[in-house]
Amino acid sequence: MMIDTHAHYDDRAFDEDREELLASLKDAGVGTVINVGASWRGCRAAVDLSRRHDFIYAAVGLHPDEVGCLDDEKMAQLRTWAEVEKKVVAIGEIGLDYHNDVEEHSVQQEWFVRQMELADEVGLPIAVHSRDAAQDTWDLVSSHAGKARGVIHAFSASAEMAMRYIDIGFYIGMGGVVTFKNGKKAKDVIAKIPLSSLLLETDAPYLSPDPFRGRRNNSANLIYVVRMIAALKGVTEEEVIETTERNARELFHI
Ligand code: NI
Repeated sequence: MMIDTHAHYDDRAFDEDREELLASLKDAGVGTVINVGASWRGCRAAVDLSRRHDFIYAAVGLHPDEVGCLDDEKMAQLRTWAEVEKKVVAIGEIGLDYHNDVEEHSVQQEWFVRQMELADEVGLPIAVHSRDAAQDTWDLVSSHAGKARGVIHAFSASAEMAMRYIDIGFYIGMGGVVTFKNGKKAKDVIAKIPLSSLLLETDAPYLSPDPFRGRRNNSANLIYVVRMIAALKGVTEEEVIETTERNARELFHI
C-alpha cells in the first residue's frame, strides 16, 4: 500500500473532518502516514496522532520559519519524544527557508545544525525542508547529517543536486508538484533518479496534485502522483507503490 511520508494532519484545515478523513484512507490504498511536525504545537499534535492511530507515525522538529521559539528546554523535549515515543521515526521538518525569510539565515542555520546533531545522537533520520536555499542546505546536510540519513522533502532543486544527495544515502521526497503543468523541473528529477531513492509524499493540506491543484490535499490523492511517476519512468503503478513503500520502510524502520 502507499506510504505518505510527509503530511500535516495536525493542521487546522482538518479540524472539521479529521477523524473521518483518516478513517477513509485505507480504502483509498494508503496504508501508512508519517505526520510531520513543523511548529511546536504541530509536534505535540503529531505525537498525539501517532498514539491514537495504528497507521500514523510522527516526525518531530521545527520548520525554519518556527525556530525562533526554540531553546534548550524545547530541544530537551524533542529529544525525549525521539527517545521515548516508539512511533517517532524522524526529526523534521527541519531546514532552511530563504523564501519566507522569517528568521535570520544565521539563526536558521544554527537550529538546523543543532536539530541534525540531535537526530544523529538519537539515531533517527531527518526530514529536510529547503526553499530558495539549495546550496546552503547541501553544504550543511553534507557536513552535518549523521549516519541515519534522511529525505529531502518536496524536492525542488536540480536533478544534478538530487544525485548528490542520493550519493550520500539520502532519499528524494516527491508529491503533487510533479503533476503540475509547470512542474518541468520535478519531472526531470523523476526521470533521472532511480526509483530506489524515491519517497511518496503529499505535504497535505498543501500541494494537491492536478486535477485538484489549489484545493485541500490529503493522502488519497497520492495515486495521481503515482500515475505520473509510473508514466515518467515507464513502469507500472504497482511497481512505483511497492518500491516507494520498501524505500520508506528501510529509511524510517517501519
Ligand atoms: Ni511539510
